[in-house]
Amino acid sequence: MSAAPRNAYQRILELTPRVEEIMGRLKEPMDAELPTIADRFYLRIERHPEALAVFRGGREQLVRQRIALAGWLSELFVPPYDESYTEKRIRVGIVHLNSGVDEHLMIGAMNWLREELIGALRRITLPEGLHFGETAAALQKVLDFDLGIILSSYWTDLRSRTRNIDRLALIGQFSAAINHELRNPLGVIGTSTYLLKSKLAADASEDVKNHLAKIERSVARANAIVSGLMRLLKVEEPARDSVDLESFLESVIEEVPHPPGVTIELIPGAVTGRAAFDQDQVRQAVSNLIRNATEALGEQGRIEVRFASDSIATSISVSDNGPGIPQATLNRIFEPLFTTKSFGTGLGLTLSKAIVEAHGGELKARCGRVGCTFEIRLPHFLIGRPTIPRTQTSS
Ligand code: HEM
Repeated sequence: MSAAPRNAYQRILELTPRVEEIMGRLKEPMDAELPTIADRFYLRIERHPEALAVFRGGREQLVRQRIALAGWLSELFVPPYDESYTEKRIRVGIVHLNSGVDEHLMIGAMNWLREELIGALRRITLPEGLHFGETAAALQKVLDFDLGIILSSYWTDLRSRTRNIDRLALIGQFSAAINHELRNPLGVIGTSTYLLKSKLAADASEDVKNHLAKIERSVARANAIVSGLMRLLKVEEPARDSVDLESFLESVIEEVPHPPGVTIELIPGAVTGRAAFDQDQVRQAVSNLIRNATEALGEQGRIEVRFASDSIATSISVSDNGPGIPQATLNRIFEPLFTTKSFGTGLGLTLSKAIVEAHGGELKARCGRVGCTFEIRLPHFLIGRPTIPRTQTSS
């Protein structure tokens, strides 16, 4: 154990070696209490519909979480609270953030645990030389330490969302001007290149032809970026329709061109609730994901489009068995104008995300050693965390 608190946060909390010593000594008597605390935590979840709604995976998921929570509780009494402890606990924040548990729920739930743990402290026989006041204070400090770690994941997420909002706002301010100022010169370059090509016709050397082709490709890309920016700015409040998911996705798949060596399979999951979303917008979002997957695969490969709908949300995922995306790139793929393709606009995924968020939903990407999965979740109603406000612009 170290001789002093390890970092500024522990210093403020006065999470000292003495606190670690007390917590370590509480492990044995507290262990017997933890299963009851985990059970009572779930009774409380069931009393709060907004908490219960998070468990989209039903009872099975609740059971999984109960086991994980019991493990988490037990580790509270296993100091030292060093870097490796912190690293393990950071994951808890990330899992909840990704499961749609908002920060208020986490703070409330931490208070449920506080009450239960302090209640248990009163029931157990304290190890010799420990008194209730000092042990309760030690426990509170460690719970505050853990809450701080969990909330830091939420703040990190908020900061990255804010960065994206700032970027989108900036894009908003410039896009209308860019559209106005660049369309004309781009049109002139395009037309002049075409005229040059037809005038030179067969007389042009290979070198000249190559340069003209490069100009044409670059003009096409610049036009695509301007159009992409304008589409991004025009994501409006979704007009939700009742949608037959299977035929909707069949029609989206049909529209995406792909090489003969790439197969795209539609795999239905359980559909127990109505799917309600803006068909035009979601068509754009899903076809972007399928198009990206075909580009990742090249000439050969397999894409699976899965869907399901329950009483809360519709989920649509697109998986490929391509080469995957390195973590550093994965962290940036939703940033506006970020692209790894030589002729990409860096706006496709930004647009898909903006559409999904306009529905109050989430678009997430995960990649393994083989391939990636992009998953869209669209709540039938706006629930949970507020979505990023979209940039107000005039086009
Ligand atoms: C301070 C309070 C809480 C603690 C300490 C806690 C602890 C945990 C832990 C340790 C995990 C497993 C993380 C992993 O996979 O590494 C987990 C998962 C999860 N928790 Fe919590 N939790 C808390 C509050 C909540 C609340 C309030 C909700 C919902 C309202 C919730 C919903 C979930 C869900 C949905 C999962 C994912 C389960 C799965 O699919 O495997 N948790 N929790």
